[in-house]
Amino acid sequence: MNSSDRFVIKGGRRLMGEVEISGAKNAVVAILPAVLLCDEPCVIENVPDISDVVISLQILEELGAIVEKLGPHTYRIDATGIKSTCVPYESARRMRASYYFMGALLGRFSKARVSMPGGCPLGARPIDQHLKAFQKLGAQCKLEQGMVDLSANPLKGNQIFFDVVTVGATVNAILAAVKAEGLTVIGNAAKEPHIVDLASFLNSMGADIIGAGTDTIKIRGVKYLHGTDYPIIPDQIEAGTYMVAAAATGGNVLVKNVTVRHLNSIISVMEKIGVQIEADEEHDQVRVFTDGPLIKTNVKTRPHPGFPTDMQPQISTLLCLAEGTSMVKEDVSEQRFQYVDELRRMGADIQVDGKVAVIEGTGRLTGAPVKACDLRAGAALMIAGLAASGVTYVEDIFHVERGYSDMVGKLRALGAEIVKETHPDEAEPLLQENAG
Ligand code: EPU
Repeated sequence: MNSSDRFVIKGGRRLMGEVEISGAKNAVVAILPAVLLCDEPCVIENVPDISDVVISLQILEELGAIVEKLGPHTYRIDATGIKSTCVPYESARRMRASYYFMGALLGRFSKARVSMPGGCPLGARPIDQHLKAFQKLGAQCKLEQGMVDLSANPLKGNQIFFDVVTVGATVNAILAAVKAEGLTVIGNAAKEPHIVDLASFLNSMGADIIGAGTDTIKIRGVKYLHGTDYPIIPDQIEAGTYMVAAAATGGNVLVKNVTVRHLNSIISVMEKIGVQIEADEEHDQVRVFTDGPLIKTNVKTRPHPGFPTDMQPQISTLLCLAEGTSMVKEDVSEQRFQYVDELRRMGADIQVDGKVAVIEGTGRLTGAPVKACDLRAGAALMIAGLAASGVTYVEDIFHVERGYSDMVGKLRALGAEIVKETHPDEAEPLLQENAG
């Protein structure tokens, strides 16, 4: 992947047909480090084809694990022989979720030395709750030269109560506690589907975790975890992104391989906006289409089961295409309105004041060159490009490729006019031909 790669989208085509959702990014980036805790080899299925997976597998290999690809989405991982407990900066900086190696290595070896994830100093996106959990379990934590040094002798179960609801710290607490002596009780835990998936994965190896999906998780430490063969849950945010893309283009799309109950808050908001949704729990699919105008709607992000912050940029883009004034309140992440400046370049009328964006629905967007500043911002700009008149160039697409499997292939199968350009200078003639 080249940092000058870009997506080129000629907008205005209705998305029609079917799309198959891949395994969940935020589950797999927790489950791959969790493999370190397993005392036998294990097999992970439904692994999405995204760059965060490539990085996670590379870190496992650098630590000494043997990774074998058994099929397009299936990996066998044998981490039984690893000796290293260190994840250096060069590896950790490439992916924020590399901090899950802290909990996993600590849980396995009672010690770990893992670089702080790149670009995120303690102040800006803190990990104080992660460290609090490790300390509660008896670990000493030191921060030296950007490395977090953890050691325990041994880890012991305890009560952990988080001051904020945090996905990352809940994952790390589970990873560290699963083999700790005695009982750990995590209070004010995150309830996201990927927390439940991590617990189900560990339980399938013989762990004793109850309550995942509620705000109290109880973990009784076990000594041995046996091998397992485990499929990752479908990605609720990828599903939501295609649902919004279908609605934004006035299309009709069957989104397949989803867990319908994970989509409830997204479905509920989209229905308020006037989108038609036929949810089919029996066949794990939802059909999305529009048969009237999109309606202004106020949206607030909340931790699960509320409306996810990871869908906020996409739904805000949809609201640009609705009639009237909508308000979107971001209550989970601090810097989740960075995409707004780019969307304005496509004709959006959005004012941001602190946690609130006021969106004047203009009903239309126009193509422009734009930059993805993070993963979901990139997804939102792609939706905008699909719905806009004219051509949109989305740059910095490495953000998008961190979390979406084959987005170009899936969108093209739905009838979108989109290409990935790896040599932008050569792209101009092709685009001008297409632009008419
Ligand atoms: N927080 C603290 N202290 C901590 C940890 C978090 O104050 O020690 C605060 C954060 O600053 C933030 C809030 O708690 O304001 C929630 O952060 P959380 O820890 O839940 O976020 P995260 O674990 O860093 C995960 C997802 C994000 C998603 C958030 C919120 C993964 C790998 N990442 O991040 O996903 O936005 O939860 O749901 O699971 C994405 O997929 O695009 C993405 C960014």
